[in-house]
Amino acid sequence: MEGSLKPMDAEQLREHAHKMVDFIADYYKSLENFPVLSQVKPGYLSELLPDSAPEHPESLDSILDDVGQKIIPGVTHWQSPNYFAYYPSNSSIAGFLGEMLSAGFNIVGFSWITSPAATELEVIVLDWLAKMLKLPKEFLSSGLGGGVIQGTASEAVLVVLLAARDKFLRKFGKESLSKLIVYASDQTHSALQKACQIAGICPENFRHLKAKQSSNYALGPELLSEAISVDLSAGNIPFFLCGTVGTTSSAAVDPLLELGKIAKAHDLWFHVDAAYAGNACICPEYRHYIDGVENTDSFGMNAHKWLLTNFDCSLLWVKDRSALVKSLSTCPEFLKNKASEEKGVVDFKDWQIPLGRRFRSLKLWMVLRLYGQENLQKYIRNHINLAEQFALLVRSDVRFEVLVPRTFSLVCFRLIPPSDLADNGYKLNYNLMDAVNTSGKIFLSHTVLSGKFVLRFAVGAPLTREKHVREAWRVLQEQANILLENI
Ligand SMILES: Cc1ncc(COP(=O)(O)O)c(C=O)c1O
Repeated sequence: MEGSLKPMDAEQLREHAHKMVDFIADYYKSLENFPVLSQVKPGYLSELLPDSAPEHPESLDSILDDVGQKIIPGVTHWQSPNYFAYYPSNSSIAGFLGEMLSAGFNIVGFSWITSPAATELEVIVLDWLAKMLKLPKEFLSSGLGGGVIQGTASEAVLVVLLAARDKFLRKFGKESLSKLIVYASDQTHSALQKACQIAGICPENFRHLKAKQSSNYALGPELLSEAISVDLSAGNIPFFLCGTVGTTSSAAVDPLLELGKIAKAHDLWFHVDAAYAGNACICPEYRHYIDGVENTDSFGMNAHKWLLTNFDCSLLWVKDRSALVKSLSTCPEFLKNKASEEKGVVDFKDWQIPLGRRFRSLKLWMVLRLYGQENLQKYIRNHINLAEQFALLVRSDVRFEVLVPRTFSLVCFRLIPPSDLADNGYKLNYNLMDAVNTSGKIFLSHTVLSGKFVLRFAVGAPLTREKHVREAWRVLQEQANILLENI
């Protein structure tokens, strides 16, 4: 880049962006050559890059050379077809194009007036998705509710917790904060715990109800009822229940129908975290996992996990949008405008923590339009079938066991330890995971269920095919052979 700075010169954009697209396309072509889990050591990058920013411009070519040589070794390749860790975080051409467009406009859409299309498109695509999921009509923007795009499921649960907290404080008085009680199973994502910390709900007021192995780690409604009774007798105020459809450890599904009845009877705010598995519910045959959503107050699902929408795109629906607005709205002089004051528009700044917000609905709109519902359903089904194939492979080897029935595209399994191993196979399975991950051939993650170290194999990367699943199983067996020989 020579001469005067032209940060948004259209012709330079064309030239550089074409180069960048070529670079990214080549990256996707060679993705399988890289170790899935980055193999660098902490601090590796400071040894490769200068101590201070360049005084003078450098060329895009030299920067891209550095990306190839210095950055890519430190990237863990979430889009690799051999990525099976955590839950997926999908990219797609449609999502990528939407991100490009969003970067191109680079608007900051906090109020309707700051880009009416950003707000209105978000309202429309969230209604589309609500219909795809067959959410009750109270979640649609035409009623008192509506949907909003948050950055993450953590932000989603935080904003609804704040809305619920304030609703109860308005009813019982501000001094009752220390009596407000939150309920969720011990399998609930730690995002809820963090939300409680931020919302001033002290740890003693968070009831982590034990989800039993006998219920496949779903929350038992009777446990919830008992806990609520104990709290009521103690003069506490039950106020918030979080159910999960597709827990992070094992994809367990809490029984929304029964939990919803209890929540309704006690007037609790009932939030459902379906960050991962909610995506599967666009398929008619999986929709029953969210039966009972009628009795919830809010429902969240991450389109950026498994719906081909690049990170970040966490969808949240509420039945009563005014509860969010009451908690999160501020209106300083410098943000006042005619449209907001006339109250005929949505200002999404009042539905979220930050003020600024990106034009994220573009990428979801692109995904829905370029792929269509039918293809998205097929995409989900294919991953679930691949996971089932993997589960069958595991079951076909007597040295292994599948620990919970597979529901979506996650398989929880382990190497059965010889009976004389004192740690119940913890180290053996840890070492198996470590060996396959450091081989760079596949990447998977773990959890602990009922004291057992469990390997999690989550199918969901856009490029994963049957051959990758079979090869992953071969790699696991190969490493298991080595470990078992050396016990
Ligand atoms: C069920 C569930 N809830 C919440 C989260 C947290 O997601 P986020 O990173 O969007 O906050 C996850 C992450 O995997 C999850 O699996």
